[in-house]
Amino acid sequence: MLRGGRHNGAMAGSLIADLDRDPAAVADMFDAVAPRYDIVNDCLSLGQARTWRAAVVRALAPRPGELLLDAAAGTATSSLPLAATGARVIACDFSQGMLAHARIRVGRIADGSDQSGSVQLIAGDTLALPFADHAFDAVTISFGLRNTVNPAAALTELRRVTRPGGRLVVCEFATPVRPLLRTVYREYLMGVLPAVAGAVSGRSQPYGYLARSIREWPSQSELADKIRATGWDAVAWRNLSGGIVALHRACRGGVR
Ligand SMILES: C[S@@+](CC[C@H](N)C(=O)[O-])C[C@H]1O[C@@H](n2cnc3c(N)ncnc32)[C@H](O)[C@@H]1O
Repeated sequence: MLRGGRHNGAMAGSLIADLDRDPAAVADMFDAVAPRYDIVNDCLSLGQARTWRAAVVRALAPRPGELLLDAAAGTATSSLPLAATGARVIACDFSQGMLAHARIRVGRIADGSDQSGSVQLIAGDTLALPFADHAFDAVTISFGLRNTVNPAAALTELRRVTRPGGRLVVCEFATPVRPLLRTVYREYLMGVLPAVAGAVSGRSQPYGYLARSIREWPSQSELADKIRATGWDAVAWRNLSGGIVALHRACRGGVR
């Protein structure tokens, strides 16, 4: 099943500030933040991350036995709620550091929790996924598309591995709908977020990057256009937390 390597992504436009020319630097940055990734996330999202993940599960609507891909799965925090539905989940990421933490987390669940599904961890690049065409019933990517050096290539690759009639859900930071929230959020992103994340994680550089990458990310309608442009059908989105996050859904058309 394996094909492609870890750092063979094509180059994109300038979506991401200073790391956009170097997938290896992106992977290294996630290796470095991996030990504190989940705790920092919970702090920065003020606990909202859990509700966003539950919304992803509802939007993807997995059926028991379906095979799902969670691309750029990181520590598998986005994968486990999917597996809890009884679906089989492949969690794929190119950061060995994030996967090491995923291994611990998935192992702990397998040791006796109530989550009934299964998660398999695979190292791989979202821009050159190590899976056959049409391999998955549904694919999803949470807070990962923005981090790939070429989001359009990632969406095309996700479509390649989805069966005709299969589904896509993208969960990403977005543009708050109300002007007041937009202003407060921008201040939070550029001021509070790097400082808090730096204090909790002991590193500030990655979170400066995080803030800039969110600020430069397309709006909800622009992202919908990009998804459509890569061949996905029936593209729609809904805002979460006032548009701080958006879920984009799409289908892969065609005959099975
Ligand atoms: C912000 S984390 C999101 C992790 C997880 N999906 C979640 O919701 O917590 C972004 C992840 O994208 C991964 N990533 C970025 N570009 C990638 C690529 N081209 N291929 C595979 N993983 C990638 C990083 O290694 C990192 O684990």
